[in-house]
Amino acid sequence: MSRIMLAANRWCMREVTSIDETMKFYRNKLMREHNTLALQAPAYAFVCVTNDDELLKALAWARIEGVGVVVLGQGSNIALVGNMEALVVHQAVQGIEVLDATDSDVILRVAAGENWHELVQWTLQKGYYGLENLALIPGTVGASPIQNIGAYGVELQSRLLQVHARQIVDDKPVTLDNAACQFSYRDSIFKHERKDQLIITAIDIKLSRLAHINISYPALANFFAENVHIEPTPEAVFNAVVSIRRSKLPDPSVEPNAGSFFKNPLLGSAVAARLLAKHPSLPCFSQANGAVKVSAAWMIEQCGWKGHRVDDLGVHPQHALVLVNYGSASGSQLLTLSNKIVGSVYDEFGVSLEVEPRIYGLRS
Ligand code: FAD
Ligand code: EPU
Repeated sequence: MSRIMLAANRWCMREVTSIDETMKFYRNKLMREHNTLALQAPAYAFVCVTNDDELLKALAWARIEGVGVVVLGQGSNIALVGNMEALVVHQAVQGIEVLDATDSDVILRVAAGENWHELVQWTLQKGYYGLENLALIPGTVGASPIQNIGAYGVELQSRLLQVHARQIVDDKPVTLDNAACQFSYRDSIFKHERKDQLIITAIDIKLSRLAHINISYPALANFFAENVHIEPTPEAVFNAVVSIRRSKLPDPSVEPNAGSFFKNPLLGSAVAARLLAKHPSLPCFSQANGAVKVSAAWMIEQCGWKGHRVDDLGVHPQHALVLVNYGSASGSQLLTLSNKIVGSVYDEFGVSLEVEPRIYGLRS
């Protein structure tokens, strides 16, 4: 069994207010640097946990203070639209264990605070294949099951064996197997029955020691069709995904964003057929269950939003799904823009768009 520590998380290195002897709790913490949209909002308190003892202390602290707990990784799939009346626990526990290895497969336990993209790079260097299509997705391993991260023809659910977590209410450790996670497109039990109940501490994944190339996703297929001299090895797929993503998606450290702000709608086949008859160039993907996934970006672009910008808030000129905070846009301005986009797509296509990032700070 081996244990490897990847890069320490820089969030844990800053110290502002010491309330406990060993851990730093930051009261009224401004959250701009903790979300990739760079939205400003205060949290009741913030703490970074790097091991299980610290996690238990954080949960106890929140109980004593009488506040709820929100767990965050890198903040790359959230939108802060108001005060976070909670202790924000940044899950930063590190480590990768090889639980089992045969000639054909390897099973890894990866701690929740590991960086997702660094994990993908590390597995590739070791010759453990299966994550290469998921390169360059921002965020932490612990957040990956929440929306069953997916890209370029692969979703986490096809590699995941188990999720390990602690219950916020009573500290109890729990394990959910793949079926219990109820994964589907950008969805899982962690957004429904188990919403806000668990802090994921680690995931177990099964990877292959033999390459199984999947370049069926149109952008990847085009890449290898246009570059016939490049053999589609796992490393080449990784490089292609990185290059395609860099050409399409803005870097949040330069143009703050949360990736796709809307999900691609899943329509019944009859509804999709009617829509396609009216809009034959609408990109769509048939799903195994008969549903049809249609391109939200295309519909938003057709409504004229792509490149739209007012003051510090806009829709990215290269990708209509990406809303960008160019400076000091507020969460409520973002929400207003998002609602306008949803409204115009509904008026034009009769399709309801669903926001992908988790919204925090909404007054009920
Ligand atoms: P956060 O934003 O910190 O949290 C997101 C949600 O998960 C929150 O509700 C939080 O409470 C919960 N959560 C986080 N950690 C834990 C934990 N340990 N236990 C329990 N709950 C937790 N997503 C894709 O699927 N595919 C893509 O191709 C993709 N591309 C992106 C490109 C860009 C430029 C950006 C900015 C985002 C992209 N995303 C994509 C979205 C994002 O990267 C993923 O959703 C990622 O998994 C979020 O990780 P995070 O650590 O930043 O989570
Ligand atoms: N398109 C447009 N206008 C645009 C952008 C795209 O018409 O401005 C069209 C493209 O021409 C293409 C289709 O939309 O025909 C799909 O585009 P793309 O391959 O870029 O994928 P996407 O649907 O925009 C989804 C995910 C991404 C993921 C990619 C690759 C969702 C909501 N988004 O984007 O995930 O990286 O596929 O698999 O499912 C994220 O979740 O944050 C994210 C970036």
